[in-house]
Amino acid sequence: MRLRNIPGAREAVAASPFCVSADPSMRGKWRSLFGEVCALHLEIGSGKGRFLIEQAKRRKECAFLGMERTSTVMYKALKKLGREEEAPGNLRFVLADAMLLESLFAAGEVDRIYLNFSDPWPKERHAMRRLTGAAFLARYARVLARDGVIEVKTDNRALFDWSEEQVLAAGWRIEAMTHDLHADEHMRQNNVMTEYEERFSALGHPICKMIIRR
Ligand SMILES: C[S@@+](CC[C@H](N)C(=O)[O-])C[C@H]1O[C@@H](n2cnc3c(N)ncnc32)[C@H](O)[C@@H]1O
Repeated sequence: MRLRNIPGAREAVAASPFCVSADPSMRGKWRSLFGEVCALHLEIGSGKGRFLIEQAKRRKECAFLGMERTSTVMYKALKKLGREEEAPGNLRFVLADAMLLESLFAAGEVDRIYLNFSDPWPKERHAMRRLTGAAFLARYARVLARDGVIEVKTDNRALFDWSEEQVLAAGWRIEAMTHDLHADEHMRQNNVMTEYEERFSALGHPICKMIIRR
């Protein structure tokens, strides 16, 4: 995806009250930002924020954190949040690359990870960058709580099938899976659409989803 540079985006993101700096001193302390919450949910590659803003509004008992590595994209999420009449207090963003996950989160600190429409990196030489690959799954295993889960959604069937292989090879359990989420009576319940999901399902692409646990 080619991104237009937005002058001042990085500064605006750094100054936003909804963006927490990617500082290793936050490790083990994320929940303290939110007061009384029962779980910490993290979306990696949170893009323009639609999914998390809606989740945070629907589930006030949980805290939501969006990790995004591109400041121009996060700038758009923060602008969207700023336009909300009442920005949810249980939502924050952090500008960081998922490679840094373990320096930012303590073991067991995260309850749920969402990987929504992750970049497919179709060339084999870029496979290490795919967020559902073995190296990332190992990082997730270390920051997730004992009974923590990961939810993966994508319209990219090749990436989904490859991710399924990676997940099984790494010893994760697939709790639920569909190759057509919007037609699946059970799995579509309470589904919150992401920006990419809206775009691709409008083009007729079926959406794949799996929920995995160690
Ligand atoms: C295809 S977009 C999907 C955005 C959103 N989740 C959605 O479904 O609409 C993928 C996003 O993940 C971000 N991303 C890719 N690799 C990342 C990484 N290693 N760490 C953090 N963010 C990443 C990209 O910058 C991009 O905004």
